[in-house]
Amino acid sequence: MSGQPDMRVRLGRLELDNPVMVASGTFGFGREYEQLVAIERLGAIVTKGLSLQPRPGNPAPRIAETPAGLLNSIGLENPGLQVFLDDKLPWLRRQRPAVVVNIFGTTVDEYARLAARLDAAEGVDALEVNISCPNVERGGLTFGADAGAAAEVAAAVRSATGKPVLVKLTPNVTDIVAIARRVAACGVDGLVLINTLRGMAIDIHSGRPRLGNVIGGLSGPAIRPVAVRAVYEVAQALDVPLVGCGGICGWQDAVEFMLAGARAVQIGSATFRRPGTAVEILPGIEKFLRQTGRSSVGELCGALETGD
Ligand SMILES: Cc1cc2nc3c(=O)[nH]c(=O)nc-3n(C[C@H](O)[C@H](O)[C@H](O)COP(=O)(O)O)c2cc1C
Repeated sequence: MSGQPDMRVRLGRLELDNPVMVASGTFGFGREYEQLVAIERLGAIVTKGLSLQPRPGNPAPRIAETPAGLLNSIGLENPGLQVFLDDKLPWLRRQRPAVVVNIFGTTVDEYARLAARLDAAEGVDALEVNISCPNVERGGLTFGADAGAAAEVAAAVRSATGKPVLVKLTPNVTDIVAIARRVAACGVDGLVLINTLRGMAIDIHSGRPRLGNVIGGLSGPAIRPVAVRAVYEVAQALDVPLVGCGGICGWQDAVEFMLAGARAVQIGSATFRRPGTAVEILPGIEKFLRQTGRSSVGELCGALETGD
């Protein structure tokens, strides 16, 4: 196979030039990386998580390195919707990649109001709904840990906007397929798997937790097998477009997620170590497709062989 493989992918109604996206919270609002990364080569930019009102985030320290991973407790710090619309979106909408706005709230109504406001915003191509947030109406249990609450958020966002909706699932549950099934039934365009795993680390010399918030979210290569397993399990059970995320550092990792059933991938923590990771992954995937005689990246999706 000599020609260029077709790298376009479709997640429900969202069409991307290629399957490589940058993950929420690890690429700011894009412009921060303008001088470091060939942004036009990305399939999509997923923004930092946005809430209706600005949030200051958690106390420092907010980041701690762990073996093959990163613990963070940023606390969803963000400038709020209005600053995004006025200061961040004008630059973003001039860029080639699709603009996916990650949103979160502490009530179902907050999610719906954010979605409705963004529905009217030119240059927003899709919403990504982060449901790994405490539900203040249900005693702080995260929306994503309860299938009913997760579906309520998904349905509320779905009916508040005509734009494509992706819902990002948390791995901190017993049965991710059960959550995925309820969310997918709300008619969303795709699911993103996974957000960070809850974790904690202690500095034995000071006797103090290494994060100001004590508990944080684990990301990086340490969580990749958990994420690949989550994608595989959901892909086996449901017919909904999936985006794989968790510990991707190179093209081989991206291919691994696609074989498990992902149509697209997101690169998160690896960007901190090497800002160009996401764009550097693309030629590797293209070469692999040519070497394995595939003419489009879609052919990788779910091509895992488990039998003999
Ligand atoms: C510093 C940091 C901030 C993050 N902020 C968000 C966020 O605002 N919203 C969200 O949905 N996920 C957020 N995430 C989760 C990532 O998007 C991603 O799901 C997770 O880190 C796993 O991917 P990775 O191992 O490639 O980093 C954040 C992750 C990190 C490391």
